[in-house]
Amino acid sequence: MSIKQQIRNDRLPRHIAIIMDGNGRWAKRQGMHRFFGHQRGVEAVHEITEACAELGIEYLTLYAFSIENWNRPQEEVDALMSLLIDTVEKETPTLHKNNVRLLTIGDTSRLPQTAREKFLNCMEYTAGNTGLKLVLALSYSSRWEITEAMRRMAVKVRQGEILPEDITEQTVDSLLTTAGIPDPDLLIRTSGELRISNFLLWQLAYSELYFTGLCWPEFNKEALYEAIVDYQKRERRFGKTSEQINS
Ligand code: IPE
Ligand code: IPE
Ligand code: MG
Repeated sequence: MSIKQQIRNDRLPRHIAIIMDGNGRWAKRQGMHRFFGHQRGVEAVHEITEACAELGIEYLTLYAFSIENWNRPQEEVDALMSLLIDTVEKETPTLHKNNVRLLTIGDTSRLPQTAREKFLNCMEYTAGNTGLKLVLALSYSSRWEITEAMRRMAVKVRQGEILPEDITEQTVDSLLTTAGIPDPDLLIRTSGELRISNFLLWQLAYSELYFTGLCWPEFNKEALYEAIVDYQKRERRFGKTSEQINS
């Protein structure tokens, strides 16, 4: 049985989030410049988006650029921004054809204006699509997001829109940039690093974590299927006992 055939369609993760890591190291191993790794990384994004759409996954969130990544050498930041601009422009028709809707999370006000415009265009163009929701985390970091949410909450309290005793987890959820998006069921990180790097700290509370040594440019459909099959073998208990889950 192929790995794809082992996937159970009745137990698909509704939301897969991926920390796409290892572009630079992969390129260096080939004796190439880091940028070559980012270019090949875009091909992996294309392949994994297509695979998720084919499988009927509802949400795919990709960590494309963190707020901390602004601290990389200016030359690399500029190259990544150019690549983002080219890619969103080039991929918009394919996304639309595949009924994919694009969304973004993060402090996108920090992106260059051309990038902001291209992403807005793509989001508007695909807004009516009913298939996979592709959520790109751009200039995203979780502590920034939580701090922003607290600031907005404080304003609401000051204006008397909400009382402190009425604040619930749902109130917090509704103030995050991911408002309306269900929490990830499965988090994948490539490149062998075992950390979260400021990604979705609130939303990952009960996600299943999957780490692979493959670098992002090497991550393909088969590798995704393997991660999903592994996820489907796990028992998600959410604090309960195994007996409760199985009764
Ligand atoms: C992930 O690959 C892409 C971004 C963070 C933009 P890296 O660029 O982090 O590659 P490594 O981790 O240095 O190999
Ligand atoms: C995490 O990768 C951010 C993205 C994949 C966009 P990094 O390469 O920036 O993470 P660290 O610095 O190794 O933790
Ligand atoms: Mg990295």
